[in-house]
Amino acid sequence: MARSATTYLPKWKCGKTSVIRVPSVLSDEIMAVAWELDSKRAGGIREENGVYVLELEETSKSLNTTRPVNVASVPQRSPFRYPGGKTWLVPILRAWLRSLPQNPGLFVEPFSGGGIASLTVAFERHASHVIMAETDEGVSAVWKTILNGQGDWLAQEILGFELTAANVHQALAEDSGGAPLSLRRRAFLTLLRNRVQRGGIMAPGAGLVKNGENNRGLGSRWYPETLARRIREISMNLDRISFFTGDGFDLIEEYRADDSAAFYVDPPYMKAARRLYRNWKIDHRRLFEKMAAVSGAFLMSYDNDSAVQDMAREFGFQCSPICMKNTHHAEMTELLISRNLDWLDLNGAINSPASYGESSRRQKGLLASHR
Ligand SMILES: C[S@@+](CC[C@H](N)C(=O)[O-])C[C@H]1O[C@@H](n2cnc3c(N)ncnc32)[C@H](O)[C@@H]1O
Repeated sequence: MARSATTYLPKWKCGKTSVIRVPSVLSDEIMAVAWELDSKRAGGIREENGVYVLELEETSKSLNTTRPVNVASVPQRSPFRYPGGKTWLVPILRAWLRSLPQNPGLFVEPFSGGGIASLTVAFERHASHVIMAETDEGVSAVWKTILNGQGDWLAQEILGFELTAANVHQALAEDSGGAPLSLRRRAFLTLLRNRVQRGGIMAPGAGLVKNGENNRGLGSRWYPETLARRIREISMNLDRISFFTGDGFDLIEEYRADDSAAFYVDPPYMKAARRLYRNWKIDHRRLFEKMAAVSGAFLMSYDNDSAVQDMAREFGFQCSPICMKNTHHAEMTELLISRNLDWLDLNGAINSPASYGESSRRQKGLLASHR
């Protein structure tokens, strides 16, 4: 039996509908699940060890930007452990996307790194489609391999690798030897490097993990089954994610005039990026100029630094510090920047003494002169 959403009032929150045909004996249950998903404007169905799991998040929970997010509560979907990774930002990212008048047609992530933002948006259907860019050759090899349909090969390669010191040294020498590598071999070697180097850092000069988690040494972050599962789950969402082969700046330019696009911009930060990434140098002023010119909504994350705050103010953007824990579990703040951060206030940050929310922004003189 075909059912049309227009049969029901009120209409769907998620936007445009399409008619699907399912066996009538299943239709009530399927509609109930669809309504649940729609009411949360998030979630999705994923497979976990042969079981289908319906994932829903609470939308009513208010954010507390003065306390670090407990990352254990956020689904880990990336095969990377990425330096500067934004798993901790996921609840805020969801709140931002839900605050938009409608689900974006396109979610654009020009500096995708480990891609947790893009994966979350694709898996939880916060946008119709996701496009990501990354200029690091190894990292982009991983995304291209999976998104070109080679995820199963990559998962098998990971499952078949015997992690010994000798094998790791041999593999990493192959990666840095300069001999031509196939894209998928480079992808495998990049994930291996990411998992055996300290802090997941793949920039030149980074050393190998020594004692690692619970003294498990080199293999302490190598979880073959988990990595294979994450890669296969991404492979189940191939039709929702694209990889842009090129510079993040060009990707922003490509969708500059698209007002249905939402941009999440997490560039190499002004400070500390050199130690973390092979490609760490960008023109920050040019990035602000680009963001000022986009028609769609955007959210940027940056180091909480006075030079960044000054630039945000100069471009008429709002900014708010946000509490997080770094890799050493020390509490610190980073900066969120957007044209409008009122949704953060609505979600509970307005009472936070450390935030530059609507009222406190004025008090602290950080309210942008025009919005
Ligand atoms: C802060 S990291 C992104 C981390 C990511 N949000 C995550 O959660 O894993 C910034 C990334 O930008 C990449 N990058 C640097 N310059 C770039 C450029 N011009 N275009 C695209 N990516 C670039 C770096 O290689 C790095 O992976």
